[in-house]
Amino acid sequence: MFYITTAIDYTNGSPHIGHAYEKVLADVLARWHRMCGEPTYFLTGVDQHGQKVQQKAEEAGISPQEYADMVTARFIALWKRLGLQYDGWAATTDPRHEACVQKILTSLRDKGCLYKKAYKGFYSVRQEQFLTDKERGEDGNFGPEWGQVIELEEENWYFNLTAHIPWLKEFVTNHPDCVQPEFRRQDLLMAIERATNDLCISRPKDRLSWGIPLPFDPDFVTYVWFDALINYISFAGYLAEGDESLPEFSKLWPAACEVIGKDILIPAHGIYWLCMLHAMGFTDEEMPRLLVHGWLNIKGEKMSKSLGNIVDPNDLCDVFGAEAVRYYLVRDTKVGYDSDYDPERLKMIYNTELANDVGNLCNRSLNMCVRYLGGVVTVADTLAEDELSVSLRKSLADTVARFAERMDNYSTSEALAALNEHVGQCNAFIEKTQPFMLAKDETRLPELQSVLAHLLESCVHIGYLLGCVLPEASERILCQLQVDGSTLNPQTLAWGVLKNGHTVQAPTPVFPRILSEEEKQKMAEKAAKAAAKAARKAERAAQEQK
Ligand code: ME8
Ligand code: MG
Repeated sequence: MFYITTAIDYTNGSPHIGHAYEKVLADVLARWHRMCGEPTYFLTGVDQHGQKVQQKAEEAGISPQEYADMVTARFIALWKRLGLQYDGWAATTDPRHEACVQKILTSLRDKGCLYKKAYKGFYSVRQEQFLTDKERGEDGNFGPEWGQVIELEEENWYFNLTAHIPWLKEFVTNHPDCVQPEFRRQDLLMAIERATNDLCISRPKDRLSWGIPLPFDPDFVTYVWFDALINYISFAGYLAEGDESLPEFSKLWPAACEVIGKDILIPAHGIYWLCMLHAMGFTDEEMPRLLVHGWLNIKGEKMSKSLGNIVDPNDLCDVFGAEAVRYYLVRDTKVGYDSDYDPERLKMIYNTELANDVGNLCNRSLNMCVRYLGGVVTVADTLAEDELSVSLRKSLADTVARFAERMDNYSTSEALAALNEHVGQCNAFIEKTQPFMLAKDETRLPELQSVLAHLLESCVHIGYLLGCVLPEASERILCQLQVDGSTLNPQTLAWGVLKNGHTVQAPTPVFPRILSEEEKQKMAEKAAKAAAKAARKAERAAQEQK
């Protein structure tokens, strides 16, 4: 089972392009594994509790639940628009989740993993955490990133995190796959050395009421991170035997891939989460694998409300279409690294790789087949053995293998680059074999048929593999090629999908170029000029007639 999850987004503000990146990446990986015929379960959702939501709701003058529901609806609408195909929806106010969190809390307390103590210290309202000297800046003060800092004394419940640190150190050291990419695992190992405090897992109700009540102490609610992290198991059916509305836990767990941003590896996922699982009794073999992605920045700066540079993915979908946005997000960012969001690059990448390269290849190949061969693909019993044909077939086979290997390694950008290279080979093949010249010479019909069979077979493979990133476009390409993608599998994809006598349809462009306003204007002017010229010509012809 390929069980893949994402971070669950705070419902204290609208989704932005960073949220969209993470979810599209996970969707692409889930679709890829489904294509490969692997049972796949994709869970995503929203983090609805906590101070941030309570504050926003107070500002808006509505209840936290109403506020969370309102923002949740925006996330759901965006995910629909971006074509996310998820199997489970993790919303942390779901009673099934709340029940699971409470069961875990009770069991951890029974095991002696939780204790109550009083603590006095500085507290960041924005980050909802107590601060220690480690958080002080060089000038000895707490920096602006902490927002308002107040001094607070309160009793709380603690999880004995430090008791699990020796295990965690050994686990992360001995399991090179537990965090990817590798440099993030190294960051985590260093952070583990500095983990010397237990984790406060409660908030007094009089300060924060918007959370899951502690089952054994009614004056407290659960700290939002402790609640949120549990979503990965609660919505996978943990401690919910017999609840038909949830999956069977033993079939899903452990997660093959938990997709998260770099800001929540340390301490949340890399330390709290793994130690929580260990305390619950999960073994080394039952630990999830973390895939840590970088940030999408704007001109090198972090996206933030205060900088006013937040990009709404809906606006991008309006202008470029959802699939162009999906392609851009997984093509222009190397998983694990930061990248800069830039709409000009979105346009450029779409226009070159999709409109010009793949789009043109499919259009030309289909057009020539319809025009010269009546849409019938002829595949000879023995394949052409000339150098160009042999090397194109080899390139195709290598491309399929490379694409699969890279997708399996979560390298979406590199996988798409491999497809694009083969598209380049095909376009060069057209230039070298000149099918439009072959079509003028009846005696060269077998050559023409062979060239087009090579091109169309390539279009099938490319159009099919693109399906995990561009589900709609892929379906349209395959429809024109008259191929049913559901009968294919990347693991067995090989030359020969198109059989002798297969027929194809005339193409309609799948990737119309994205034009700038300037280009649209120029096109309109050009069209007007052409119309005027045609009118003059017609007039002259009419006069000559007289
Ligand atoms: O952290 N670029 O929620 P969140 C890329 N509720 N990814 C970004 C990003 C950016 N500019 N900004 C945010 C939370 N993200 C918690 C998670 S999980 C049990 C609880 C990513 O809404 C971020 O790294 O602040 C995280 O993975 C996700 O969006 C949600 O961020
Ligand atoms: Mg955040």
